[in-house]
Amino acid sequence: MTAPWMIHQPLDMHLHLRQGDMLKTVAPVSAEWFAGAVIMPNLIPPITNLERLVAYREEIEEAVGHLDFTPLMTLFFRDYTRDELLAVRPHLLGIKLYPDGVTTNSESGVRKLDEFHHVFKIMEELRIPLLVHGESHGFVLDREKEFLSSYEFLAENYPDLTIVMEHITTADAVALLDRHANLHATVTLHHLLLTLNDMAGGLLQPHLFCKPILKRPEDREALQSAVLSGHPKLMFGSDSAPHPISAKECCGCAAGVFSAPVILPMLADFFDQNGCRERLQGFISDYAVNLHKLTLPTKQIRLDRQSWVVPERYDSVVPFKAGATMAWQASRIS
Ligand code: DOR
Ligand code: ZN
Repeated sequence: MTAPWMIHQPLDMHLHLRQGDMLKTVAPVSAEWFAGAVIMPNLIPPITNLERLVAYREEIEEAVGHLDFTPLMTLFFRDYTRDELLAVRPHLLGIKLYPDGVTTNSESGVRKLDEFHHVFKIMEELRIPLLVHGESHGFVLDREKEFLSSYEFLAENYPDLTIVMEHITTADAVALLDRHANLHATVTLHHLLLTLNDMAGGLLQPHLFCKPILKRPEDREALQSAVLSGHPKLMFGSDSAPHPISAKECCGCAAGVFSAPVILPMLADFFDQNGCRERLQGFISDYAVNLHKLTLPTKQIRLDRQSWVVPERYDSVVPFKAGATMAWQASRIS
């Protein structure tokens, strides 16, 4: 008999949990399987001070109940003072920068990076990582590519600033990772497995509409090769982003894929099919633990080749792969 496939302390380095009833629905799904997650601050209004960050963390802790789960909090980037950042530093993993208006609840994001030199300097000095939604306002398929020069600007001007390129989607972004020591990146499940054809190649699939938009086969190929090769600067971050069905199946569909329920089964399948089971642990946990020097509760997950059917709904939310049969199942070993 072969040994069971175990992973420990899985981490989701990019997660949207929302608030209120939606939080209560989705937080336990991630907390069941993950030891922790980096929680995005794009609420309405966004999280821009210590008081709200602490209150939001408490709301998340209440929503996950008895489950062992560490919310790694973030602030929404704005013009912070040194005193504000000094006070908040022990409570956060990083600060998330959104260009203005590029995605859900990012209207108060940044227009010109060079107006925030003093904030980047303080973050560099205080060793606070900068997490970036790297898209321009240009043609939708080129937005990430057009933002790469901004990543280079940041990486070169602030060499001691840890910069995470969130949810990268292109071969060009993968290539950039190796050019600057202080650049790191997260990859989502959907960008790793899908292309634009899955969303818009046949009948439109609103539950796969997300930002950044799904890309070309060659981009997916580059992401897959980098992840499967065990690239130590590429971490898993789901960008699982729930919206109620009324906001997805309508005119003016909201961007976001609710992937949380299927992450571990689908990653297990992907790594197994590619003969790289031993590489999953680094991608799903170790690289992030090393980068951010995290100490987290022990959480052991066993992956078994066992089928189950993904529910059609989680309350008002349609998950990725709703109704599909999964080949792998994850179980928590307490
Ligand atoms: O698809 C997305 N949904 N991309 C983002 O950047 C934000 C997210 C959301 O909050 O819904
Ligand atoms: Zn996101």
